[in-house]
Amino acid sequence: MVAIVTGGSRGIGKSIVEELLKINYEVIVTARKESKETISLQKLFNNKIHFVPCDISKEDDRKKLFEYADKTFGKIDLLVNNAGVAPRERKDILEITPDDFDYLTDINLKGTFFVTQELTPLLIKNNQSRIVNISSMSAYTASVNRGEYCISKAGISMITKLFASRLAEYGVSVIEIRPGIIETDMTSKVKDKYEKLISEGLTPVARMGKPEDVAKCVSSVALGNFDFCTGTVIDCDGGFNVRRL
Ligand SMILES: NC(=O)c1ccc[n+]([C@@H]2O[C@H](COP(=O)([O-])OP(=O)(O)OC[C@H]3O[C@@H](n4cnc5c(N)ncnc54)[C@H](OP(=O)(O)O)[C@@H]3O)[C@@H](O)[C@H]2O)c1
Repeated sequence: MVAIVTGGSRGIGKSIVEELLKINYEVIVTARKESKETISLQKLFNNKIHFVPCDISKEDDRKKLFEYADKTFGKIDLLVNNAGVAPRERKDILEITPDDFDYLTDINLKGTFFVTQELTPLLIKNNQSRIVNISSMSAYTASVNRGEYCISKAGISMITKLFASRLAEYGVSVIEIRPGIIETDMTSKVKDKYEKLISEGLTPVARMGKPEDVAKCVSSVALGNFDFCTGTVIDCDGGFNVRRL
């Protein structure tokens, strides 16, 4: 079984790669640059991990990723759309510029859409293959100081529904995982703020999530446990999604 994990070099993506290797997937890891973590995983899981540099916002890079996967395996069984960025600087929606908006949505939204479109021919070569989109609780939670991020994640929810509808006839299921607050580089600058909010009761489960929490949801999908589900959302968020009174 072969998977592609975008943004697999660090954080949540790196944990997803690890979990997939443990269940005997061969994994193509993409990111803009290789990390120490990827190199040490390569040593641990000899020959089972392939690093392909790919900035998902760049058409040429997406084509090179397709060519590598096509030439090396001729098909893929699982695509995990995990790559994503936070705003370069958190700014109020009344202050963000078109450039701020384009930077983020070119990666998180347009990149995710077109990487999926590019790789579809390799996914439909099987009777059953899977796409997992890593969106966020920001898909439905308004944060006015990073509106472009929220918009990109709400868009990923629609990408999930669109590809679930379009690809079901080819045996491709599409699952969206919405992480809550997860401890990674992305949240390192706001860790203290989030820990305080959590200690004050923000989430029923009183801790930040770990990358492995998300990765275990992905590996469960990868094992085929959700094959009659498509367009389905898994909230991996310590219960943040529960409305409480
Ligand atoms: N951490 C959280 O609390 C949280 C919550 C909800 C959702 N998420 C989502 O989960 C995903 C992973 O987040 P994370 O916290 O693990 O972030 P992270 O630690 O910052 O890792 C992001 C990964 O994406 C890659 N990446 C960034 N820009 C890219 C691009 N243009 N093309 C290809 N790869 C790119 C990075 O590698 P390079 O920089 O080398 O390219 C890295 O491998 C993101 O989509 C994020 O929005 C995170």
